[in-house]
Amino acid sequence: MSALSRYVDLSQPSMWVAVGSICFNPLFWNFVARQEYRNKLLTKLALGRPYLGCYLLGVTIFGLGILRDHLYQHALSEQPTLPLLHYTEFKLVAAAVFAWGSILVGSSMWALGYTGTYLGDYFGILMDHKVESFPFNVTSSPMYTGSTLCFLGTALWYEAPAGLLLTLLVYVVYQVALSYEDPFTGAIYARREAERAAAAKGKGQPAGALEGGDGDAPEASTSAVRRRRGEL
Ligand SMILES: *[C@@H]1O[C@H](CO)[C@@H](O)[C@H](O)[C@H]1NC(C)=O
Repeated sequence: MSALSRYVDLSQPSMWVAVGSICFNPLFWNFVARQEYRNKLLTKLALGRPYLGCYLLGVTIFGLGILRDHLYQHALSEQPTLPLLHYTEFKLVAAAVFAWGSILVGSSMWALGYTGTYLGDYFGILMDHKVESFPFNVTSSPMYTGSTLCFLGTALWYEAPAGLLLTLLVYVVYQVALSYEDPFTGAIYARREAERAAAAKGKGQPAGALEGGDGDAPEASTSAVRRRRGEL
């Protein structure tokens, strides 16, 4: 306990502001996204336009992320440092970890696109296929893994053990968020698949027909998606 109080100054308000921001962000987007899914809250605020609603949510989430990163860095700047981490080797590790984290975050945003990144699924804007290319072939949740690594790299860079503690908090908060998000989005896509299957059946197509069914299948699936969009 004494080692903890020597290297982590819990009396700094900035530390608690960072804790609050780290916990608030995933709570916020999960709460708002579910409100959208259930009550179309954001689509209503965006005058009936789901794409605009998703765009505005994305801007808000992005802004909250920038604010959180700023509050985190500010908190670390007021925390005690661990002299061991002052070595150049640790700076290199810090930079490498941060760079890898940024690559995971950036490439998953690239792979998912704007609406895929910013919870478009909850607006009825679904991805056509599950993305399995890089970085999703490295980790199942590259956005969260990458973000956590960026927190870790920053903690090492600032030589602050308090940052390692906050990184642990980030990890836990993301695990909790995933345990909420994964089953929920899983159910959204399962419903879409059921609708696609029903649409294909309605057209007299045997499920899973590839040869000859190719011409109709994409049309059937887009109409299912369109219907779904109308319905949302
Ligand atoms: C993931 O995909 C990329 C190319 O998209 C490839 O270079 C890499 O080796 C793959 N990684 C794994 C672990 O399969």
